[in-house]
Amino acid sequence: MVDPGPLPHRRIRFAWPDDTRARWQPLRPEFAAAVNALSLGMPHGEPYVMRAVRRAAGAIDDPDVQARVRAYLAQEAEHSRQHARFNEILVAHHPALARVESWLATSYRFLERRAGAPFGTAYAAAFEATAFAAARWMDRRRHELFTGADPEAATLILWHLAEEVEHKTVAHEVWAAVDGSRLRYVAAMGVCFAMLVWFVFCGTVVQLAAWRRLWSPVAWFRLWRWGLGFVFEVVPTMAITVLPGHDPAEQADPSWMPLWLSAFDPDTGTLPVWDAPLDAYLAATAPPPAVGDRPRGRTTSAAAAEAVTAKATAADIPRPSRSRPATGGPSRLPAAAEV
Ligand SMILES: [Fe+2]
Ligand SMILES: [Fe+2]
Repeated sequence: MVDPGPLPHRRIRFAWPDDTRARWQPLRPEFAAAVNALSLGMPHGEPYVMRAVRRAAGAIDDPDVQARVRAYLAQEAEHSRQHARFNEILVAHHPALARVESWLATSYRFLERRAGAPFGTAYAAAFEATAFAAARWMDRRRHELFTGADPEAATLILWHLAEEVEHKTVAHEVWAAVDGSRLRYVAAMGVCFAMLVWFVFCGTVVQLAAWRRLWSPVAWFRLWRWGLGFVFEVVPTMAITVLPGHDPAEQADPSWMPLWLSAFDPDTGTLPVWDAPLDAYLAATAPPPAVGDRPRGRTTSAAAAEAVTAKATAADIPRPSRSRPATGGPSRLPAAAEV
C-alpha cells in the first residue's frame, strides 16, 4: 500500500458571529440546507467510525499503521468538534433539526450495539470512500456551489472534505488488514449510502419548510440535479473500491483541495477564503529556493528577505476568521482520546 505520508492535525479556528445564518448560501439556499443536514450527522457518524478504526487497529502490529491511525483520528475528532459547534447554531435557528439529530444519534447507537465490530470497520471504510467521492464532486463544482456563500460555512465544509482526501486510505487499510470481507463491505456501503440519502432528505425538508421553499420547483430541480450528479460521481467511485486489490491511494485526488490546504496558517488557525488567489499566495509563502536552484545574482539573505516580504503580502489575503472576532464556543464532543 502506498504511504499516504504524514497527516497534519490542523487546529483550525472558526468564528461564528451571532448573525450566522443557517441559510448561509443565499444564492442556493437548498444547497445550504442539504449540507447542513449532512453536517448534523458528523458528530455521530464520525465518532462511530473512529471507534471502529481505533478498535480494529489495535490488532495491527505495525507502528506505521498505528501512526497513520492516530493522525486520522486526530483529523476526524477535529471535524466532529467543529461540526458540533456549527450544528448548535443550526439547531438554535431550526429546533426541528434536533429531532433529525436525535434520529441520527439513535441510528449510530444501534449500529454500535448491534452491528458488530467487523461491520463497524467495513462501515468506516465505506464512509471514507463516500467522503472522498463527495470531495471530488464538490472540488469541481465549488464555484457554482459556494459563490456568494458565507465564507465561514464554506471553509468548514471545504476544509473537512479536503482532509477527507488526505486520509482516504487509512480506514480502508485497517479494514483490509483485519477483515477484508467484500460482502460485508458492500452491505456497509449500502447502509452508509441509505443513511446519507435519508437523513439529508429529512434535514433538507425541515429547513426548506422553514424557509418557505418546500414547494419551490427551482429548489427541487436543483436538488435533483445535484443529487443525480453526486450519484454519478459516488457510485462508480464506490464501485471501484469494492474490486479485489483496490488501493485508495491510486484514486486521483481532486486538483484544488490539496493546494488550498497547503495555504493553512498554523499561527492563526485559518485558511484563505476558498476563492482567494492561491497561486499568488503559494508562490509568496514558498520557502527560499535551494542554493543550486537559486537564480543567479540572488543571495541567501536577499531570498529570505523576499520571502518575508511576500509572507507579509500573503497575510493580506482574506481569511474568514480574521474578519471576525474568534469565539471558540463549547463542543458537545469529548476530546479525541475520549471518543
Ligand atoms: Fe471527517
Ligand atoms: Fe474521514
